[in-house]
Amino acid sequence: MSRIGVIGAGYVGLTTAACFAHLGHRVVCADVDEDRVAALRRAEIGAHEPGLADLVTEGLRTGRLTFTADNDTAVADAEFVYLCLPTPTGENGEADLSAVHAVLREADLDGRVLVVKSTVPIGTADGIARSRRSPVVSNPEFLREGHAVDDFLRPQRIVVGADDASVARRVLDLYPDAPALVTDRASAELVKYASNCFLAMKLSYVNSLAELCERSGADIDDVTEGMRLDERIGAAFLRPGPGWGGSCFPKDTRALLSTSDGAHVDFPLLRATIDTNERQARRVVDKVRQAAGPLDGTRIGLLGLTFKAGTDDLRDSPALAVADLLADEGAVLTGYDPCVTTDTGPVHVTGTALDAARDVSALVVLTEWPEFAELDWPALAAGMSRPVIVDTRNVLPVDKVTESGIRLVATGRA
Ligand code: UDX
Repeated sequence: MSRIGVIGAGYVGLTTAACFAHLGHRVVCADVDEDRVAALRRAEIGAHEPGLADLVTEGLRTGRLTFTADNDTAVADAEFVYLCLPTPTGENGEADLSAVHAVLREADLDGRVLVVKSTVPIGTADGIARSRRSPVVSNPEFLREGHAVDDFLRPQRIVVGADDASVARRVLDLYPDAPALVTDRASAELVKYASNCFLAMKLSYVNSLAELCERSGADIDDVTEGMRLDERIGAAFLRPGPGWGGSCFPKDTRALLSTSDGAHVDFPLLRATIDTNERQARRVVDKVRQAAGPLDGTRIGLLGLTFKAGTDDLRDSPALAVADLLADEGAVLTGYDPCVTTDTGPVHVTGTALDAARDVSALVVLTEWPEFAELDWPALAAGMSRPVIVDTRNVLPVDKVTESGIRLVATGRA
């Protein structure tokens, strides 16, 4: 078992710390935010991440997981130091590495294996390695929000970029058994961007196909069902929606485009992937206007505000992009989301879906929360001033909804 310091207690850092402790390692996790550290010491994780609070509780109980606001304390006794810091979008779309560099300047990391878990542009880990004597490893994460613990403990792959095979082996040994790729640092860094951008590209492709279906009489659900049967295409990430969002895809697509521009590589596929997504919220609003009539002063209800189901994360949520555009046109917005309790942007948040639907001229389903498929349709219809639902994710049961007298505007079918 190893001694690990984790710098940064966001969803990646905390998941990494708690899961490593669960696997038997001794972990000290640091975060600059003292209030967060105090909360974590009480096992309050401040996010909706299934299983994570239990692992934090377990780690605190066994003593294998401790929290500190001081990076030096996290590093002092560690054999491995994991950097799990945010790399937000900078001014020109590039990843902003200031948090990473600040830690590297201040913490004494000599003699430890430095593991870069943050998503960083190609060449970052090599650059760090040039300025230090101890080993530097790139070890990107592939954790989906809402499944982070599961993804960590049962990984589909572990990617380690290192220039020393024995160091790479030591990092791999920290993890459960899984298909592993050991490569150079730059390739490991690119695997992360390449994967997220590919998934985003699949989604933009499907969202454009859905638009084509609407105008040509085809049905996107059947079209993607047919595509899924081809193993080369893969079954996942073919569901249409209001656009992709969250803390990774928007940031990573822009960052890879910025890296490509910097390397003088024309990457029109990536640019089109982003452009298609940026137009998606406008398309949803056009459909709502068609369904509900002029939007100025019109009440519209929204079901789902987070960027996807199973999370409370509102960062770069396509639902909020739709909400902002609707509000710009004068719509008055109510919204319901199982994980959101306070008013968000222009949306007055209600406690139930029925409340969000009351007196609205259209209801718009924006997130695929399973409970939205099981609403009381007759009651919903009775409360709406015009019984129309725009389902941007095709998650509602068509027959039940239409039987209750509601007009259902689905996605990707005429
Ligand atoms: C993603 C990657 O999956 C993960 O590996 C990476 O490390 C972090 O980024 P996450 O952002 O949690 O994870 O969400 P994910 O489940 O991948 O969904 C991303 C976006 O695509 C969401 O907005 C989601 O609603 C959308 N999506 C996904 C669709 O619109 N249709 C689909 O079929 C799948």
